[in-house]
Amino acid sequence: MEQARGQWGSSVGFILAAAGSAIGLGNIWRFPYVTGENGGAAFLILYLLCVILICLPYLFAELVLGRHSHKNPVGAIEAIRGKGSPWVWAGALGVITGVGILSYYAVIAGWTVGFIFKDFIAPHLDFAGFTGNPLVSIPLFALFIVLTVGVVLGGVESGIERTAKVLMPVLLVLMLLVIIRGLTLPGAKAGLEFYLKPDFSQVTSKTVLTALGQAFFSLSLGMGAMITYGSYLPKTANLRTSGAFVAFFDTLIAVMAGFMIFPAVFAMGARPDAGPSLVFVVLPQVFASMPMGHLVSMVFFILLTIAALTSTVSLLEVVVAYFVDERLWSRKKSAWTVGVVTFVVGLPSALSAGASGSLTHMTFLGKEGFLGIMDYLWGNISLALGALLLSIFVGWVWGVKQAGEELKLGSTITDSGVRLWGIFIRYIAPVVIFIVLLDVFGVFD
Ligand code: TRP
Repeated sequence: MEQARGQWGSSVGFILAAAGSAIGLGNIWRFPYVTGENGGAAFLILYLLCVILICLPYLFAELVLGRHSHKNPVGAIEAIRGKGSPWVWAGALGVITGVGILSYYAVIAGWTVGFIFKDFIAPHLDFAGFTGNPLVSIPLFALFIVLTVGVVLGGVESGIERTAKVLMPVLLVLMLLVIIRGLTLPGAKAGLEFYLKPDFSQVTSKTVLTALGQAFFSLSLGMGAMITYGSYLPKTANLRTSGAFVAFFDTLIAVMAGFMIFPAVFAMGARPDAGPSLVFVVLPQVFASMPMGHLVSMVFFILLTIAALTSTVSLLEVVVAYFVDERLWSRKKSAWTVGVVTFVVGLPSALSAGASGSLTHMTFLGKEGFLGIMDYLWGNISLALGALLLSIFVGWVWGVKQAGEELKLGSTITDSGVRLWGIFIRYIAPVVIFIVLLDVFGVFD
């Protein structure tokens, strides 16, 4: 059985695949608009603190759990506590969340594919006209699910790892090109100032929590994606170094996304706080009025598509790993079945950007539109809950001693290093995540 299970071909392969999971719409679409709404540089600093102090220790917890058991989130917990343990539900929540996030994430990813060609096929349509047309949004959504299934079908090493190894370096180069184009526009300096000169007068506790939630989502934490990717690592792999690289690359790309967007936005006299439409509405305007704009626009949406694909792959892989490990389904049957189910679950999201009036305008917990509500339920509440349960599980139920032994395998981490990590995973992470959860439920509003 162990033999049949996939494994990464190399540490670099793992780092690129896990960074591919982490780097996605969260970095390039969500991070800039959230930073733009929350004051720029001050938010950036809070974000960096959250990554280092909370997310990095928690990332190690997921990786350790996965590599210990070589299993999906459900199997990983069963391996420690046995089949009947209620903690297994924490793993199951992760698997369900995979379908939940993928169902709307692939809709947005479909838009990014459409925007590669939009200048040629539908130049007259604005963002709402484009996403509100079900004949456009549904086929693009279906296409993205099929692409994702296609990569996952190839398996861990020849599907996921090989795709990431090609696409991640391409992404980096394309981003550098767009950054250089933006920075050389007249007036770009105001954007740099917004992004780099902190003004803490606008920071509230809400800003801190927004930064932390963004960091969790961006690093693919809280639903066992890193348990699953960690489960394909050999015992000889150095979890500390690999994990640190993943967090570093994810953060680098988010920071670069800011450099890609703010100078261009300011150079064109647009506002940084446009919200979720920043990348889809403001940027195309920026591109349209700049020399070589069509080309830059295509490059930009190609890179957004690449980033999104390596992320949707990880979301699907968590669910597929569950069916392969626990239900003994074939990879092929698992990937197609989960793909079809996710497509059906995601249809209302695809119709909620204008195509259906009632889905577009429905409200729940203060969020408007079916897609926005799904994002809140799965991308905020469920991730925070999952991260809380998993950090308590690793820190208190499994225990820092046992988890620490696994963390030490393959690395030179010392006993005091493990103790320090234990403080973060037992006390700091759960308490801070609990506060985030209260915020998610609107306790601080
Ligand atoms: N991290 C990805 C992004 O930034 C999205 C993502 C992929 C994700 N897998 C995840 C988020 C698992 C949370 C959990 O776009």
